[in-house]
Parts: sequence; C-alpha cells; structure tokens
Amino acid sequence: MSKRIRPYPILFVDHAPAMGGAEHSLLDLLQNLDRRLLTPHLAAPAGKLAEAATQRGITVHLTPLPRLRRSPHALINWHKGIRMLMTLADTVNAAAIYANTVRSAVYAALAARLGQRPFVWHMHDFWLTEERPSSLWPDTLLKQLLCAQAQLIITNSKATADHLPPNYHYVTIYNGIDPDKFRPQNNGRPFRTRFQIPHHAPLVGMVGRLRPWKGAHRFITLAELIHQQMPHVHFVIVGGTPLSEDDSYTNKIHDQAVAAGLGNRCHFTGHLEDVRPALAAIDVFVHPGDPEPFGLVNIEAMAMQKPVVAFAHGALPEIVVEGETGFLVPPGDVSALAAATLKLLQDAQLRQRMGKNGRFHVLQQFSKERMVRQIEQNLLTMIEQA
Ligand code: GLC
Repeated sequence: MSKRIRPYPILFVDHAPAMGGAEHSLLDLLQNLDRRLLTPHLAAPAGKLAEAATQRGITVHLTPLPRLRRSPHALINWHKGIRMLMTLADTVNAAAIYANTVRSAVYAALAARLGQRPFVWHMHDFWLTEERPSSLWPDTLLKQLLCAQAQLIITNSKATADHLPPNYHYVTIYNGIDPDKFRPQNNGRPFRTRFQIPHHAPLVGMVGRLRPWKGAHRFITLAELIHQQMPHVHFVIVGGTPLSEDDSYTNKIHDQAVAAGLGNRCHFTGHLEDVRPALAAIDVFVHPGDPEPFGLVNIEAMAMQKPVVAFAHGALPEIVVEGETGFLVPPGDVSALAAATLKLLQDAQLRQRMGKNGRFHVLQQFSKERMVRQIEQNLLTMIEQA
C-alpha cells in the first residue's frame, strides 16, 4: 500500500438497520474519533443507525447488507455487498475496513482481502447469532475464518474473547458511555407518574429487550419472592421488542406476572428510547439475563448511581465489583438474586454507598472517552506498522 498520511480514512461497516448496543457504541465512537487522526465513513443500510449517524455529521454510504444465513439469494447478495464495499473502500481510499457486527464482517472480510486492505473485526457477541446456536461447529469454523482474515480483533469484554478461537490475539476494549449523559438525578417522579407507580414505594427495575435470554421471566420470579417479604415493593420491566421480533414472550411474561399475583406491583413500560428517567426512578437495578457479552445497561445504571444485582456470568464480573458496586450471585440462582436485592432494599446507606462507587467505577473504567482513545490508538498502530 502506498505511503499514507494522517488522517486515515476508515470504512466502518454495520449491517443493522435498527439500534442495538453495538450500534450505540459505534455511534459514540464515530462521533468522537479525533478527526486529525482518522476520518470515519460508515457503510450501513437505510434505517435508524444510518439516520442517527447522518444527524451527527458522519458520512454515511447507504449499503444494504442482507442476511445471508438460510437465504436463497445468499451468494448473489454476498457478491453484491462485497463489490459495493470494495468500490466504497476505493472511493474513500480506506486505510482499513472495520466490521462492527458479525454479518458485516462476513462481507467486509472478503472486501478487505480482495482489495488488500487491513480488516478489523470488533466482536460484540458470543456467537455468530444472538443466541447460542444449536450446532456449534459452523460457528467455530466461521469464527476461525474471520479471525484469520483480521489484522486487529477487538472484543467488548474478556468474556467475548473467551468465545473466540484460542490461537489469535484479542484486544479487549470495554464499551464506554458518556458520564455526563448518564448523571445521577434524584427526580424519579415524572417516570413514576407516567407509569402509575406510587412516588414513595421502593422500586426494583430491569432494562432489556423482551427476549427470553434477557431474563424478564426470572425477574418476575424474583419479584414474587420479594413480594412475600416486602409487599409494598414495586417492580418495573423496561423494554419491548424494538427489533420487531415476535411477541409471544411478551404475552407470556405478562401472564406470568398476573398469575403470580403481581398485577398491580409489576409495571411494564414497553420500549423506551431514553431509559434515563426509568433509571432515575429505581432503587435497585437487577440484571437477570443469560450471560451477556457486555450489557451496556449495567454501566448506564451504575453511572446513575444505582447498585446492580446480577448473576456472576458473562461480562458481569468484569463490570460489577462484588460487594462494592453491587452483588454478584451464582448464575441462575434466582433466590440468591432476590436475597441480594432484599438486602439492598432494606439498607438505604448500602444502596447509596454502592451507587456512588458504581459511578466512580464507570468514570474510571467505562467512559466513552477511554473507549474512543483506545480504539483510535489500536487503529493508528495497526495502520502505521503495516
Ligand atoms: C451486543 C451484546 C451486548 C453488548 C453490546 C455492545 O449487543 O449483546 O452485550 O452490550 O453488543 O457491545
């Protein structure tokens, strides 16, 4: 490759039309990269991500990257997508192609290889699919192929790196959030009024899309256990199905809450674009999900000075400092989750102390600033050593 000068253009690729955690992180990254060092371009399909990036002044190149798995048009679409990315990379003279999702990596890895450009893979998930696939060998094989193509592999946690083949080098860069955006607020009233939650009732909450792996059903079991000891406590599940998934799980957990006699104790907000009013209103934040590759909601809650109670699995032990910023309990043990939550409900000082520690921890370890600078540095080193 010919000699390059800063700022280096980078072609970022993400297949998602909607916004998930990986897309939120990407937006923060693109918006805050030092433009004297790197010039970001985003290739993404039309949709929420492309719109949000355009609004933030990022150059967006609309690029449909349709699903390849089980698609009868997979080969044609793959070929088209690769060609589009190669042309784009040529047009912007990209110093690297950076895939932010698995699907985009399947296109970008080949576009980079054929165009002889470095390929960067930022892995945000445990598997190539969102949930554990029934058969692991295609997953293992494709991960091997993608890793073999990449000059730089970034993972959002060590837990995510542990799901990748052992024989490669991974750079773990934790997600970051803007601590000024997620500030402690003591005004939970508007949220409580909106969802008819009594202003002075203790409130336990979770935030997550209504998918089985996010664990709302476990949260309701926890609510039932707590209700037996402290009947005045209220519970709130913040989340819906924004990625237009099917609603059978939503109906199931609504029924579960009613059957548990929590009809007027357990509140469902549906999907909220901004979860800050909800986080401001709650007293204890619970993460009842399956192992999570990262779980941005946890650091959002911590930044707002909420203690976090979670299972000690996935990336949670890398995020929550046991006994300092919250409690970690044995994976799957909902009674232990309820016991830890009760302990916090009964001790306002403990809640405050853990909440404060949590914000401090986020400022140290999980700021957007740190995430952006680390990714920037890794990209510069890779490009300048090439
Ligand atoms: C993916 C993971 C989630 C993580 C996010 C950002 O959505 O499932 O755990 O927080 O990426 O890295």
